[in-house]
Amino acid sequence: MPPSALTENIKIQNANGDSAQREVSKSQGMSVSPIDSFHSPLPSASWGMHHKTGLTNSFRASAAGTAPLAKLLKPFKEEDIKILLLENVNQTGKDILSQQGYQVESIKSSLPEDQLIEKIKDIHVLGIRSKTKLTSRVLSHAKNLIVVGCFCIGTNQVDLSYAAQHGICVFNSPFSNSRSVAELVIAEIITLARQLGDRNNEVHQGIWNKVSAKCWEIRGKTLGIIGYGHIGSQLSVLAESMGMDVIYYDVVNLMAMGNARQVPNLEALLSAADFVTCHVPELPETKNMIGVDQLNKMKNGSYLINASRGSVVDIPALIDASRAGKIAGAALDVYPAEPGGNGDYFTNDLNTWAEDLRSLKNVILTPHIGGSTEEAQSAIGIEVAEALVRYVNEGVTLGAVNMPEVTLRSLTTDEPNHARVVFIHQNVPGVLRKVNETLGDHNVDKQMSDSKGDVAYLMADISSVKEGEIADLYHELEKLEARILTRILY
Ligand SMILES: NC(=O)c1ccc[n+]([C@@H]2O[C@H](COP(=O)([O-])OP(=O)(O)OC[C@H]3O[C@@H](n4cnc5c(N)ncnc54)[C@H](O)[C@@H]3O)[C@@H](O)[C@H]2O)c1
Repeated sequence: MPPSALTENIKIQNANGDSAQREVSKSQGMSVSPIDSFHSPLPSASWGMHHKTGLTNSFRASAAGTAPLAKLLKPFKEEDIKILLLENVNQTGKDILSQQGYQVESIKSSLPEDQLIEKIKDIHVLGIRSKTKLTSRVLSHAKNLIVVGCFCIGTNQVDLSYAAQHGICVFNSPFSNSRSVAELVIAEIITLARQLGDRNNEVHQGIWNKVSAKCWEIRGKTLGIIGYGHIGSQLSVLAESMGMDVIYYDVVNLMAMGNARQVPNLEALLSAADFVTCHVPELPETKNMIGVDQLNKMKNGSYLINASRGSVVDIPALIDASRAGKIAGAALDVYPAEPGGNGDYFTNDLNTWAEDLRSLKNVILTPHIGGSTEEAQSAIGIEVAEALVRYVNEGVTLGAVNMPEVTLRSLTTDEPNHARVVFIHQNVPGVLRKVNETLGDHNVDKQMSDSKGDVAYLMADISSVKEGEIADLYHELEKLEARILTRILY
C-alpha cells in the first residue's frame, strides 16, 4: 500500500472514532429479549466500544463524511450481549463479534445436548456450524436467544419454523464459497480434457503412458452452464478468460457476463456444449435433470460436471453413457447419498452403483469439496458475523432464512429523538392496526412489514420519542396478543 493510501486509511479510522463520539445518544435500558433479563442502564461511556469497529456500511459511509452520520442503535451495553460460538467458528467471525464489545465465548467442538441446553438458557446470540442440532427441545430452553448464526451453507440442523415462531432469527452464508466452486470446475474442465486424473493414477502406480489422442486444449471449446446464479456466472467469467465460448440455460432471463449467451432451453445447450456443467439448486424440477434422454442429446465425446447437488444427475445413466463412450469424461463432487463423516464409506452400501462409478475411466470423484477452502471459511465468518451484528444492533433481517427480509435506511444523528421499533408477531389480521394505534402519538417516519408463513416482521422508525416513553411503548406492544418479540432500538 503506498504511504498516501495508508495515511488516508488512518484518517478515516480517526474520523470514525471522532464521529462516533458525537453519535452518542442518551439511552435507557430496555430488554431486547422476550424477557427483561438484560435490562441495563447505559452509561454513555460504554458507547466508546463502537469506535473500534465502525462495522455497518452506513456507519462507514458517514465516517467518510458523505452522508448524515448514521446513528448507532443499541439500548444495551455491548458487554451485556452474550454470544456462544460452537464448532470452531472462523477467527474472522470471532473478531467481528468481539470487536463490538460483546461477551464472546468460543468452543472448538459442538456440545452434547444436555450441556447445550444449559448454555443456551443464558445467551442472546448463538453461532454454530453443521454439527449442532437446534431442535425445538433445545430451543425451548433459549429464553434470551434472539438470533442464531449458522456459519455454514445449510440450515437443516435448525428447527427453523420453531425458531421463527419464538422470535429467533436465523442467518447462514449461502454464497461465500461461490468462487471456490467456480475455480474447482475450471480445474476439472482442464483435468477432464487432458485425462489428468487417469495419467496421475497411472504414474502413481509406476505406469508411464504418454498419450495425446483424445486430449484437448479447452481454448475455443464451448462450455454449457446450467443455472447461471452465483456460481454459474462466476464460472462464466473465468471460462471466457481461458478462451472458452460460454452458453447458459436458466429458468430466469439473466444478463450475460462478457460474451456469454443465454440459450432458450436445455436441449439447445446440451446439443452445442463440449462441456456441460450443472449449477442449479436442489428442487423437484432439477431432480435427475440430466438423465438418459439428456445424455443422449449431448455431443459425442463431450464431458459432464456436477458440483451442484447429488440429485441433479441420474448417476446410473451417466455410468452407462460413460461405458458406451458417449461421454468422454465426468466430474462429480456431489452424490444422492453422502457419508456423515470422513472414512472409507464410498461403497455400494452408500449408493448401490458406487463401485461401478469408481471403476470408470476419466471420471473425477471428489468428496463434496467444491466450497471447501480457507477463503470460503473466512468469508463465511465475516458474512455471518456482520449479519448478526446488523440484526442485534439495528434489527435488519436481510439474508435471514426463517424470517421475512426487512430493512430500513439507517436513522441518523440529525434525528436524535427517533427510535426503531421491531415487532415480530403472528401473521394474523388486525395486528398492524393495533401496532399503529400504539405508536399513534408519534410520527411514523418509515415503516416496513413483511411476512413469511405464520410469522410477520415489522420495523418502524418513529420520531419525537421521549426517553421516559420508551418503556411504556415496549410494554404496550408486549401486551398485544399476536406478539412474538418486541425490541425497541434507539
Ligand atoms: N459442491 C459444493 O461444495 C457446493 C458449494 C456451494 C453451492 N453448491 C450448490 O451449487 C448450486 C448452485 O449454487 P448457486 O450459489 O450458484 O445458486 P444460485 O441460487 O445463485 O443459482 C442457481 C441458479 O439456477 C437457476 N435455476 C433454478 N432452477 C433451474 C432449472 N430448473 N433450470 C435451470 N436453471 C435453474 C436459478 O434461476 C439460478 O439462477 C446449488 O445447488 C448449491 O447447493 C455446491
